[in-house]
Amino acid sequence: MEITRLVDTYLSWPKQALLSINEWGKYRVEGDFDEILITGMGGSGIVGDYVQVLSASKGATPVYVNKSHLIPSFVSEKTLVIIVSYSGNTIESIKALERALKTRGKVVTVSSGGALKDISTRHGLLHVQVPPGLLPRASLPAMLYAILGLLDSSGITIVSKDEALESVAFLEKTTPSCIEIGEEIASWLFEMIRENRLFVIATHSPYDPLAIRGKNEFNENSKLVAKVDIAPEWMHNDIVGYEFPVPSKFAVLEILDPADSVGAKLVEFMDRVYRLLDAQVYRLELKGSTLLERLVYGSLVLGLASVYLGVKRGVDPATTKSIAMYKSEASKIFSS
Ligand code: F6R
Repeated sequence: MEITRLVDTYLSWPKQALLSINEWGKYRVEGDFDEILITGMGGSGIVGDYVQVLSASKGATPVYVNKSHLIPSFVSEKTLVIIVSYSGNTIESIKALERALKTRGKVVTVSSGGALKDISTRHGLLHVQVPPGLLPRASLPAMLYAILGLLDSSGITIVSKDEALESVAFLEKTTPSCIEIGEEIASWLFEMIRENRLFVIATHSPYDPLAIRGKNEFNENSKLVAKVDIAPEWMHNDIVGYEFPVPSKFAVLEILDPADSVGAKLVEFMDRVYRLLDAQVYRLELKGSTLLERLVYGSLVLGLASVYLGVKRGVDPATTKSIAMYKSEASKIFSS
């Protein structure tokens, strides 16, 4: 895929999200569920993490995230199991689906096609279709808003259609600032890499999935190793590693929600520790009036920054050779 097409895909996130929101109400499941299990890998699995924090902040139903070929033993007829794989062909997600079908859970699949869709048709499962032809990681809004729509239409409201629409209007309005900040982060990080610094993404709860998503984006689009530091858990383990660290040079991207005073103070505390180590720091303040807005805003900034950095490094942001190499062997691994 050409780089400009990848950038365009990120820039068209508001349109991509709207396509899913236009289908709000089309997909629904009947039932009274005690919990939701979302299972998927990589760029698909992260959608589960986003739904989990959104639900924890104002939903009523616990969401569990599973990034595995295994299915947890608690799944019962009171569990809604959502299997999400953009391609529909990821072996771990297919195995999880096969295992889920042996439980009494209500199983729904989300994909652009592939084996997940075929198996769903064969078993009469509800299959949520997302548009094909994109890279999984660049189709975050398609999958996220499709799942939020499925849940709301099934009586499990985490985000209402109106809130979803407002978040898209917000994302559209802030896209120019996402481009500008994305370029700035890419230029900063490019210099940091030249100084052989280890890249760290630091944030505070509940932005755990945003930091992990950022790490994944820099791994895949920029071909860069990254570490994730999340406060307040960081204060109970990682901090000790920084007493005598190897390597000892860091470039820290601090992500914080300025409206969250405790979160901001936690990041201030981390900042003091990083600076004692002569780390270089870039601070990203999240914009948006809801958690959903801040998550999509942060995701777009990090997605664009990671593509721009890949271009600066002379790598192809779109290609992920090592994932392909793993996938070509994975069916052998899972057949044993
Ligand atoms: C590729 C990407 C990967 C995939 C992962 C699972 O853009 O982000 O992390 O998401 O290999 O594949 P899918 O999403 O097709 O199940």
